[in-house]
Amino acid sequence: MKPHLEPHTKTWTKAALHRLLTEQLSGTRFIAVSNREPYIHRFEGDNIECVQPASGLTMALDPIMRATGGTWIAHGSGDADRATVDLNSHIAVPPGDPSYTLRRVWLDKALEEQYYYGLSNEGLWPLCHVAFHRPVFRRSDWEAYRRANQVFADAVIEEAAGQPAIVFIQDYHLALLPRMLKERNPDLIVAQFWHIPWPNRETFRVFPWKEELLDGMLGNDLLAFHLNYHCSNFLDTVDRCIEARVDNEQSAIYRGGNMTRVRPFAISIDFEQHDQDAAAPQVDRHRHRWRKELKLGPESVLGIGIDRADYTKGIPERLCAVDRFLEDNPEYRGILTFLQVAVPTRTHIHDYQRLGSELAALAERINHRWSHGAWKPIVLHQQHLPQSELMALHRLAAFCMVTSLHDGMNLVAKEFVASRADCDAALILSTFTGAAREFTSAILVNPYSADHMADAIRQAVTMPVAERVQRMESLRSVVKSHNIFGWASGIVGALIEIRDLKQQSAPACLAMVSSL
Ligand code: F6P
Repeated sequence: MKPHLEPHTKTWTKAALHRLLTEQLSGTRFIAVSNREPYIHRFEGDNIECVQPASGLTMALDPIMRATGGTWIAHGSGDADRATVDLNSHIAVPPGDPSYTLRRVWLDKALEEQYYYGLSNEGLWPLCHVAFHRPVFRRSDWEAYRRANQVFADAVIEEAAGQPAIVFIQDYHLALLPRMLKERNPDLIVAQFWHIPWPNRETFRVFPWKEELLDGMLGNDLLAFHLNYHCSNFLDTVDRCIEARVDNEQSAIYRGGNMTRVRPFAISIDFEQHDQDAAAPQVDRHRHRWRKELKLGPESVLGIGIDRADYTKGIPERLCAVDRFLEDNPEYRGILTFLQVAVPTRTHIHDYQRLGSELAALAERINHRWSHGAWKPIVLHQQHLPQSELMALHRLAAFCMVTSLHDGMNLVAKEFVASRADCDAALILSTFTGAAREFTSAILVNPYSADHMADAIRQAVTMPVAERVQRMESLRSVVKSHNIFGWASGIVGALIEIRDLKQQSAPACLAMVSSL
């Protein structure tokens, strides 16, 4: 039976997704796979603490997994991870409200170094983001990438245990996994969500192992990106780089007896939950503390930026825009404070270390130029902050800047909007984020232009209240109606259709596909 899904005309809830999953997926295992785990255990003195990483992917997938009650396979990267799992490397999560299983896989340091830091983040990350950072390709990293994907494949096969299963793979760390799985069990339904952009074919063609990588991805039954633009780039890349039949009409690719549907599904957040959490008394308490800590008076204006300290996020460009704004708008000296939270990430990679020092130097230079008395324009926090602290900052700010040089989606923009039930705040958003396609009511900027961004800050702080509220209301209605459950239901719906099609017409389908 075909589920009737109308993700764009209906607001999905956690309960509706849960119903869809239990009605349509009973007897089918749901296995998610990603490099990053949703809960990390670390030794803190004699105790073990559990932290959630600064990752859009894990924040987005966690509510889905709570609804499925399935298994999530991910790299156990915390130093106390082994101490907290059972003999099967399983742990029930979330802590305190266990509703699904986290299965950790173990990668030794050398493998992690080459597969995660090397190929994934020095190679594929800059290649796909096209942010003027030259990608690095080492044969040894590629071989490690292959081996690490194999480790994940072994874990998936073990968890599926020969049962009907849907495997939902995340991101660019695991491009070879789909084909590996299909070779070992062709009955698995395999889907992958690529959370970062897919570049155009001219950019991608420099990748030295492009045929193997693309072949790996074409093991998927469904390959999803945030935007149609990334889907078109992928179809075009395959058309030029590898032997396969590309059907642009159907947005599908046929290769080696497999059909891969390529579809856009823009990711989002759990709006209702976020909206509710942001109103909690604990967030209020943090808000009052921040106000004091930042020495904000009645005249003060607070701008914020919250990002992983990644060179794709346009953080130096943003600080320079604040500098330019103060230059052009002297009346805001002593009034505007810009708080940047830059969460350290991938710190073994040289470009990331350099960014950390560059941010500190830039903040120092701008503060030296403008500060007087107790006031300084830039407050830089290079540390991880819990979600409740971030929500407090969302609620305190007059505006938030998301100025990525290139971003698949950017969930910080959606989180900021979901925290602002009062609607009295502005969002400055890079046109080069996936979010900009939906957020047409934001103040859209080109992050490469300091002038343009300084004008955007001026627009944010001088905008009439009625306009600010109206824009924020419209942004909130976008996230509210297109939430994470809508994203998941769209993907799950497509997977159920694929499964049903395969079950109903397996012999006919196979004959058709292999004759192509
Ligand atoms: O945005 C791409 C991405 O891999 C996400 O999927 C994830 O949220 C984020 O980067 C964090 O990266 P990492 O897992 O390397 O810390």
